Amino acid sequence: MMMRGVLPLISARSVAHAWPGSDAVITLDDFELAPAQRLFLHGPSGCGKSTVLGLLSGVLATQMGDVRILGTSLATLRSRARDRFRAHHIGYIFQQFNLLPFLTPVENVLLGCAWSAERSRRAGATRSLMTAEATRLLRALGLGEAIWTRARTGELSVGQQQRVAAARALIGGPELLLADEPTSALDTSSRDAFLRLLLEECERHGTGVVFVSHDLALAAHFEHSLALGRAAPGMWES
Ligand SMILES: Nc1ncnc2c1ncn2[C@@H]1O[C@H](COP(=O)(O)OP(=O)(O)OP(=O)(O)O)[C@@H](O)[C@H]1O
Ligand SMILES: [Mg+2]
Repeated sequence: MMMRGVLPLISARSVAHAWPGSDAVITLDDFELAPAQRLFLHGPSGCGKSTVLGLLSGVLATQMGDVRILGTSLATLRSRARDRFRAHHIGYIFQQFNLLPFLTPVENVLLGCAWSAERSRRAGATRSLMTAEATRLLRALGLGEAIWTRARTGELSVGQQQRVAAARALIGGPELLLADEPTSALDTSSRDAFLRLLLEECERHGTGVVFVSHDLALAAHFEHSLALGRAAPGMWES
């Protein structure tokens, strides 16, 4: 799967995480994802999918094992440096979105490059060009102008907020997109259309993807697939 001489986008070695008060250990054995590759991560509710995304992003510190993103071991970074690293390289669609409800959709999308000069540059560098890019992304992800010009984000439907969260994660072309059940609020036809648009946007910038879902019908859109919560968690299926 890896090309010679190319640094893996993600490299995880013997990662294990136990939440306080829980006997269950969430494990992610040796796995690598090459730049611009797409991984579908699935498993039943509660098996640890969101926890794994937290570990891959450095939002959660690893208790055991090593996660490297583009060759940088997240455990070697102090908390602020880890936050900065994430802002530069990772777009994250959180399961609960983490949008600011009182801001407009465009303002929320712009937050995606607020802490990264590199992503700001790639999004156009000036406020007006970045705003144009934010609106392009919202439109590309299927959110009509009538919605995002007037509403505060907290007034949008859950499915519309998912699109805002996706645009925020994608602005400035991060190397890695972590998407936690980003289609959960959508009906089947909007789900397929949205997923196609999301993956098209990733291709524009060569963004690699870890996409979490319990919906196996979506696996066909991804080059690789990984099941959590089975007998041999962390092993590649394909
Ligand atoms: N902040 C937390 N504190 C303590 N335990 C937690 C915390 N977050 C998750 N857990 C526990 O870790 C396990 C895995 O949770 P996680 O949210 O990673 O699962 P998931 O696969 O994403 O589930 P779902 O499909 O429902 O989103 C669960 O048993 C959960 O109770
Ligand atoms: Mg989850």
